[in-house]
Amino acid sequence: MQDVTLRLLVRRDEAFLRLMLREADRWRLPVDAPRPPLTEILADPHLALYVQSWGRPGDDGVLAEAGGEPIGACWLRLFTEESHGWGYVAPDVPELSLAVAPGWRRRGVGSLLLTGAVARARELGCAGVSLSVMPDNPARGLYERLGFLKVADVEASWTMMLPLGAGTESHDASRAYVQSADPAADYVDEDARHRAAPKTQR
Ligand SMILES: CC(C)(COP(=O)(O)OP(=O)(O)OC[C@H]1O[C@@H](n2cnc3c(N)ncnc32)[C@H](O)[C@@H]1OP(=O)(O)O)[C@@H](O)C(=O)NCCC(=O)NCCS
Repeated sequence: MQDVTLRLLVRRDEAFLRLMLREADRWRLPVDAPRPPLTEILADPHLALYVQSWGRPGDDGVLAEAGGEPIGACWLRLFTEESHGWGYVAPDVPELSLAVAPGWRRRGVGSLLLTGAVARARELGCAGVSLSVMPDNPARGLYERLGFLKVADVEASWTMMLPLGAGTESHDASRAYVQSADPAADYVDEDARHRAAPKTQR
C-alpha cells in the first residue's frame, strides 16, 4: 500500500468526518457517482449526531493519511440512552463509524483503520465497541473478521459488538451481549424501532 499513516483524530477533523459520514450513510453509491450535498446528510439529526461538535469527551478514533491528505477515518463516540445512534448498546461502549474515501478503497485502508480504532478503544479501557451495519454491506465481513458479533436487529440493520474485556472476561462479555440480542433486552435500541424509517442506507 502507498504510504498510508494513521494518527489520532482531533477536534479540527470534524469537516473530514462529515465527508466520511456521507460515505458511510451512502455506502451503496458507486465510487464514481455524484454525492448528495453535505447539507442533506447533516439535516438528518439521526446522522448529524455522529459528528456534530466533534471533540466532546469520549470522542476518539483514528484518521488515515496519504501524502498529508486525509483518506479515511474510523471514529468512536459515546452516546446516552436519551440520544444515540443506530448501533448503541450501552453508555460505556462507544459506537464506531468507518469510511474510506472512494478512490482509496480495496487497498487495505479500511482494515488498517478498523484495527487501529479497536486498539485505541482497548487502550482507553472501553468495555467494548459497537456499530450498526446493513447485513449486505461488505464492511460486515471486515467486522466479523475482527470478532464483532451480531447482538441486535434495529430496523434493517444489524447492531454488532466487539467486547474488549481481558482474557476469559471477553468471552463471558461476548456471551452476555449475544444473549441480550433478544428484542426485549436492555441493550436493544427500542427508540429506534419507533422512529420514522430513516432515509439512510446504513
Ligand atoms: C467498508 C470500507 C470502509 C472498507 O474499506 P476498504 O479500504 O475498501 O477495506 P479493505 O481494503 O481493508 O478491505 C478489506 C476487506 O473487506 C472486504 N470488502 C471491502 N469492500 C468490499 C467490497 N466493496 N466488496 C466486497 N468486499 C469488500 C473484502 O473482504 C476486503 O478484503 P480483500 O480486498 O482482500 O478482498 C469502504 O468500502 C467504505 O468506506 N465503504 C463506504 C462506507 C461504509 O460502508 N462504511 C461502513 C458503514 S457500516
